[in-house]
Amino acid sequence: MLNIGVVGCGNISGIYFKNLTTLFGNVRVLACADLDTEKAKKAAEEWKIEKILTVDDMLSCPEIDLVLNLTTPVAHYPINKRCLEAGKSVYVEKPLALTYAEGKELVTLAQQKGLYLGCAPDTFMGAGVQTSCKLIGDGMIGAPVAASAFMMCHGHEGWHPAPAFYYDIGGGPLFDMGPYYITALVRMLGRAVAVSAMTSRAYEERTIGSQPLFGQKMPVKVDTHISGLIRFESGAIATLVTSFDVWKHGMPCIEVYGTLGSLKVPDPNTFGGPVLCATSNDKEFREIPLINPYKENSRGIGVSDTALAMEEKRCNNASGALGLHVLEIMEGLIRSGKEKREIAIESAPSPAIPLKRDCPKGMLCTE
Ligand SMILES: NC(=O)c1ccc[n+]([C@@H]2O[C@H](COP(=O)([O-])OP(=O)(O)OC[C@H]3O[C@@H](n4cnc5c(N)ncnc54)[C@H](O)[C@@H]3O)[C@@H](O)[C@H]2O)c1
Repeated sequence: MLNIGVVGCGNISGIYFKNLTTLFGNVRVLACADLDTEKAKKAAEEWKIEKILTVDDMLSCPEIDLVLNLTTPVAHYPINKRCLEAGKSVYVEKPLALTYAEGKELVTLAQQKGLYLGCAPDTFMGAGVQTSCKLIGDGMIGAPVAASAFMMCHGHEGWHPAPAFYYDIGGGPLFDMGPYYITALVRMLGRAVAVSAMTSRAYEERTIGSQPLFGQKMPVKVDTHISGLIRFESGAIATLVTSFDVWKHGMPCIEVYGTLGSLKVPDPNTFGGPVLCATSNDKEFREIPLINPYKENSRGIGVSDTALAMEEKRCNNASGALGLHVLEIMEGLIRSGKEKREIAIESAPSPAIPLKRDCPKGMLCTE
């Protein structure tokens, strides 16, 4: 049983607390911390967490094996670094860090210290993307030649209680939502080798539409429409558009086009389906049965897999190396837009480690 300390008890923490205390059997949430102690107290009460600690106390607590970092993006790198320096493994919400250089430093530090580094998203471990990966791996659509991926909406200021970070460095549609799409593309199509993009922003300022900050203005410090291209080592080319400037659209989440057919991949920000496939002889797309039981919000599956990986001394699926590859792709897309040229990608993702499909839900096991 791996003991976990959670740092950051905000909006996304609820689903992690729920799944890590009630679904996944190989982890125990022992402590929680937040700059806002009231939030930590509330979480500890709701989820019956034994200890409320400061981050410093968490890092010196010998019982804690892994820190789950659920803070806002600007705090990811400094907290990850402090955890690794203190000898704790760490799993962080996306993005791994704000820059590729910082992310690389973290991956190297974890390697040097013999610690584990994990990074969200883990939605690609759900039934939707796993079924899609298997179909591609089985050759159902032949060799993938292209993909299209669209994440377009009008931002998060209408619902999130503290949305400023979505328009700050480390936010924007690419750094916020891109990780779901890019991670799924990388798991389906393999390593990316080059990117290019054009980028823009429709508004210099946004108004909060949610409580408790309703009516407050926020500066937009990042590009909010990114039209990108990703070239994979296999030769496949993906079009990726991420935007917070679009009210409504009719584009698919992700489609993959192969030499023998096409695949419709479900929203990679969810765990379920439907997965639809059409080969050259099919008149229409047909639904494919999902291959694993993780169809509902199973956030935390990457943490549970990291715990298992630590026990089995193997690479974790939602690894720091995968998070770093995704971060380099995102930074490359933004740089390409600024510098008006194609950017080469140097990093490589860690391999996918197959998990057994018939294990009881909440008890991961390797093949
Ligand atoms: N909200 C969502 O729906 C959602 C979904 C998926 C992923 N995420 C990711 O999860 C992360 C957190 O998002 P959120 O929506 O929960 O944000 P949030 O602002 O609601 O919560 C973040 C919490 O971290 C705490 N915090 C910040 N810096 C800290 C520090 N140095 N030490 C201790 N505590 C600190 C804050 O006080 C706050 O309670 C982000 O990286 C975001 O991209 C959010």
